[in-house]
Amino acid sequence: MNRELLIQQANEILDAEPWYVAAMSNISALIMESMEKLNWAGFYMVRENQLVVGPFQGKPACIHIPFGKGVCGSAVQKDEIQVVPDVHLFQGHIACDSASESEIVVPIHSRGKIAAVMDIDSIEKNRFSEEDAQMFTELVKTIEKKIVWDPSNDY
Ligand code: SME
Repeated sequence: MNRELLIQQANEILDAEPWYVAAMSNISALIMESMEKLNWAGFYMVRENQLVVGPFQGKPACIHIPFGKGVCGSAVQKDEIQVVPDVHLFQGHIACDSASESEIVVPIHSRGKIAAVMDIDSIEKNRFSEEDAQMFTELVKTIEKKIVWDPSNDY
């Protein structure tokens, strides 16, 4: 997997159509197609003080996640990237798919608040390296800069 190419293609996706549903759908597919040993790649959206599943690739997933719960809810509560090398050792991990072994979650901001999280799951322990974490952080910065939310969204 070429990390620079993934960032470049995400930029092209956002430039072609920045509306969040279109962009997040294609970015989920891009990540799923570009990286090996993933079983889920997508987004959870902040809606009325909880996370609700958004555009993704993979098996049907948990729909609602309260702030503070699971890896995604912890990323919101702490407002920082979560890299989990072994989900079985993460207190409160929410297992949407029993095949998941490691996970990375990155908060996405709009106007100073968390609007969504990017969640990537792998069937392999220790799947996500420091370089992967940096790449996803850069990808989220690009999303934050270019994405267009619906005007009715409360973030
Ligand atoms: N494992 C996540 C829940 C979402 S699924 O992985 C798609 C968590 O603990 O927050």
